[in-house]
Amino acid sequence: MFWSRIAWIYDLIENIYNGKANRQTTDYVASLMSKDDSVLECACGTGMFSVKIAPRVKQLTATDFSDGMLKRTGKKCRKLDNIIIENGDITNLRFENNSFDKAVAANVIHLLDDPKKAIGELKRVVKPGGQIIIPTYIHFKESKAANLFNKLGADFKRHFDENTYREFFKELGIENVSFYVSEGRMNCDVAVFENI
Ligand SMILES: C[S@@+](CC[C@H](N)C(=O)[O-])C[C@H]1O[C@@H](n2cnc3c(N)ncnc32)[C@H](O)[C@@H]1O
Repeated sequence: MFWSRIAWIYDLIENIYNGKANRQTTDYVASLMSKDDSVLECACGTGMFSVKIAPRVKQLTATDFSDGMLKRTGKKCRKLDNIIIENGDITNLRFENNSFDKAVAANVIHLLDDPKKAIGELKRVVKPGGQIIIPTYIHFKESKAANLFNKLGADFKRHFDENTYREFFKELGIENVSFYVSEGRMNCDVAVFENI
């Protein structure tokens, strides 16, 4: 699978090429967490968000469908004892309805054939009144990293800018969304909404 193949290089791109924006984004997402939260993270990749979220919450369940990426999350989070790391597809979650206080799905929506199904799953497993947090790179195709990912064989289903990302949620009928943009070589737009 593509993501397992490139897991070794992923952190280099995230930490060095786009370190500034990623630090800002992960700090912002971590700041939304509370100590009593039980949080689901989907498409956790190498654990860039997981390692900042887990210390701030009661429990983090970090999932991804790439075992290669999950292995890196395991290494990065080895000192944290409140994190469960497991394989899972964001479009078909194994969890019961209303299982979590919050869900985070970062930089994955633009990769999915059916992002609506994924968001439906997040809404199903998060309690009513809980928070759903979806950071996504915008203007990604203009970055040098996009070029590299494309050469390596990535398959991006869509590309967002500030406007199309806002439209995306409107089209799904989700109106109560706030946005926070962190800037760097690959800007990231963090969408946050209450599950109603
Ligand atoms: C661009 S990386 C983002 C990783 C991490 N969230 C971050 O921001 O650093 C995309 C991740 O989405 C995962 N992914 C793609 N489609 C998925 C799916 N249907 N279910 C779960 N994970 C998926 C990939 O394995 C990869 O780890």
